[in-house]
Parts: sequence; structure tokens; C-alpha cells
Amino acid sequence: MQFDIITLLPQFFTSLQSAGLIGKAIEAGHIRLRIHDLRTFGIGRYRQVDDVAYGGGAGMVLRPEPIVAAIEHARTAARCRVLVLSPQGRLWHQRLARELARTCDQLILVCGRYEGIDERVTQFWADMEISIGDYVLMGGEIAAWVIVETIARLIPGVVGNPESLEMESFEQGLLDYPQYTRPANFRGYRVPEVLRSGDHARIAQWRRLQALKKTLQNRPDLLCTSLQRSPTWVSSWIRWLTALEQFFHNITVQRVEEGVDAPDHTKTRDEKDAHGSSGRTTG
Ligand code: ADE
Repeated sequence: MQFDIITLLPQFFTSLQSAGLIGKAIEAGHIRLRIHDLRTFGIGRYRQVDDVAYGGGAGMVLRPEPIVAAIEHARTAARCRVLVLSPQGRLWHQRLARELARTCDQLILVCGRYEGIDERVTQFWADMEISIGDYVLMGGEIAAWVIVETIARLIPGVVGNPESLEMESFEQGLLDYPQYTRPANFRGYRVPEVLRSGDHARIAQWRRLQALKKTLQNRPDLLCTSLQRSPTWVSSWIRWLTALEQFFHNITVQRVEEGVDAPDHTKTRDEKDAHGSSGRTTG
């Protein structure tokens, strides 16, 4: 994938492009990244890129000529899409990232500044106008980088373990389950016991349950969207609910089998140590 970013702040990308997995992906040739300084396509001796708005109003608007010249300069591939970054665009999301990763060889990202970009560029030279969220940034640079990162990590070879891509947030229509690492007990807060049990089936059930809980807590809208989207989501939902059912079934069975000596897995805080309790449950 070739990314071309058209910007008035080329220096913004200097450290980003050499850092982390993106830097490695560029070195390995999985992705290519070119930054185009819009000023070099500016008009006249002063390389003018903006002007006052027709109809009046505060602030300056980016003129179409420099942007279109930069797009025409950047475009090299047949399967190329031009995206204009602006708060007025359609909302960026994982599904769109996947579609573009699959169907494009080149993405040209045009970063707006000031009061925006002359609408003729958006209407007649861009394929999409994209917003990364319902808030207004000072320009499109951060949004462009969000797009580079979300697409780059879908390109084979960029992220180490492709399995992790399938399991993560949004790919299943749910947020990701919580992750824990060492130490098992941090200042009295314990890692949930099930994750240390070695029982992979129970761990998978627990993770499904937690993903569902987090989604309900933080993004209930995702559940409605995924259910509406296609009937295949219904079967996926049945799998999730089955896991939920099995998880509770396991807990109940364990409690009954272990009787009064069953450890209380519902407490993640090490209350037993802290308060000198015997650790026996009452049920
Ligand atoms: N430029 C300013 N705000 C933006 C946003 N939310 N998304 C994309 N580009 C922007």
C-alpha cells in the first residue's frame, strides 16, 4: 500500500514515520509513505495556498489549485482513492479501513487547515470526505495518521500475529476483552483467577463474557449495529450467549461441587489477605 499525505505541516510526520511498527513496515517494504508539502504547490512568488471565503466569514479557506496539483502529482496507481480529512466527513471506522486495505493500492490523504478546503476539491477530486470523530481538530494531520495506522496494520506482514487482528475490538462487532499481565497481585488487586487456571475453554468463555460486558458498558450502540447489519451476526450472537450460559453453568457446578470450601472468585481484591478473612464462602 502506498500512502501519500498532502499537508501544510510536513514536519508533523517526521518522527511518526520512523517510529514503531510503521517504521519497520516501511523498512520492510510492506507500505510506502510520501509526505507532500502543500506549500511547494502554492501560487506565485509567495506560494499562496489560501484565501478569504466567498460570502464572507472569519478565517481563510485552502484554495483548490495547489491541492489539485498535489493530488495529480501524487497519483501513481490505478487503484487509488483520494480522501479529504474534515470534521464534515463520514465517520471513519474499522469496516471502512478493511474495505480500503482490500481494494486500494494507493491512498492520497488531503489534510485540511484553517477554515477548511474549497468544496470543489472535496466534490470533484476526492472519493471520500472522512472525519475521525465528532470533534474539531486544528487540521487533518492527526486524522490522516489515524487512517495510515488503521490501514497499515491490516496489510499482511505489518502486524506480527494475524490471529490477533481477527480477535480484537470491532472485528467481532464487540470491544476487546480486558488483558492482564504480571504481577498476579498488584497492590492488593488480583488478576481474575480463571486466567491463571490453565483451563483454555473457561478462559475463552470468560473473555467472551467480559467483551460483552465492556461493550454493554461503554458502547451499547455497537451491539445494535452488529445485530442490524447481517443475519450472520445472529449466529455469532448465539455463540456468545452460549459461552455466557456455559460460563455461569461452570461457576454453579463448581460451587456445588466444592461446597463451603469453594474460593470466592467474585473478589478480585485480595480482601482475604487485607482483612484476615478465612476465605470461605457462605454458599
Ligand atoms: N480536521 C479537523 N477535525 C477533524 C476531524 N474530526 N476528522 C478529520 N479531520 C479533521
